[in-house]
Amino acid sequence: MMTIDARARQALRSLQTYRPGTPIEDVQRMLKRASVIKLASNENALGPSPKALAALRRATGTLHRYPDATCRLLREQLSEKLRVAPERLIVGNGSDELIVLALRAFVDPGDEVVVAHPTFLIYALQANACAATVREVPLKHYRYDLPAMKAAVTPQTKLVFIANPDNPTGTYVTRKELERFLAGLPAHTLVMLDEAYYEFVEAADYPRSLRYVPDFPVIVTRSFSKAYGLAGLRIGYGAAQPSIIAAMNAVREPFNVNSLAQAAALGALKDAAFLSRTRAMVREGRRYLAKELGALGIQFVPSVTNFILLRLGPRAHVVAEALLRRGLIVREMSAWSLPDCIRVTIGTPAENRAFIRTLKTVLR
Ligand SMILES: Cc1ncc(COP(=O)(O)O)c(C=O)c1O
Repeated sequence: MMTIDARARQALRSLQTYRPGTPIEDVQRMLKRASVIKLASNENALGPSPKALAALRRATGTLHRYPDATCRLLREQLSEKLRVAPERLIVGNGSDELIVLALRAFVDPGDEVVVAHPTFLIYALQANACAATVREVPLKHYRYDLPAMKAAVTPQTKLVFIANPDNPTGTYVTRKELERFLAGLPAHTLVMLDEAYYEFVEAADYPRSLRYVPDFPVIVTRSFSKAYGLAGLRIGYGAAQPSIIAAMNAVREPFNVNSLAQAAALGALKDAAFLSRTRAMVREGRRYLAKELGALGIQFVPSVTNFILLRLGPRAHVVAEALLRRGLIVREMSAWSLPDCIRVTIGTPAENRAFIRTLKTVLR
């Protein structure tokens, strides 16, 4: 990792930068083999939605034009699907960008931001880059401790991040827990409900978060990266009260979402068949992995998402390395302060079988 220039803003000097999952091409080159399986970044193992691809191909003829700066068509489609007015919607260059926009719009240097620990790393990283004071609240049994997070809210707290479901644990916050958290929260505190894995959750007590948008200062964000298989295009959306959306638009670059991403997202929304194949693959993969891991006596955190956190103990790092040498990329978790864990994305049935087979070899 390169050192940050000494003339950079004060807040950046001690910043931990984000290390993404190792690209498949790097591992192919390192191992000099073509067959590498990447289960490290919670991507969709089925590939992109075919309808998204078809729409994207049709859109290439207008690449000489700037994209629609307001993502009007996409917001209209989303509006119909979600029953949320278009002026309550914003589209981002990945849902990642919406995290940054919320921070830029609402958090001054020195303001406080409440996050869980560990959770999705981008919240604390970007909050630190904004010179915010980050209050980290430990997870309890691998779940968000919302009462403790609420207790961490002060008159200076501008933003609370809730990943629901959470990455890297794969656990979720229930409707009751969320409603208890939102009730009586001070008016100066916004809550980002990050639902990047929303489409995978089948639990009956998972909150229908869009219901809270009219009455609470929440920003619900979702992604086309996961269930729709468009991670490489970078597109996600958010829903909030119009004044909150206006503040985020004020700090957004005018052409933040490229035209191919907009076209592909419109195609993806029509691809109900792909979505249901993806969900079925993840559901079945979760069941298969749980059964096999159980048989191997490996502890894991029960997941509602497309990845599973395995609790391997002190050998976790060695296991991740050994899997990598055999062409299987999983996520080693020391950056999340979980050095005894690895995170494994649910792949195709063949990939899941290869993972279990290789894990058995490595553990021997
Ligand atoms: C919890 C969580 N939020 C947001 C994102 C970002 O997704 P996007 O690709 O839409 O930027 C991810 C990606 O891994 C994630 O795990």
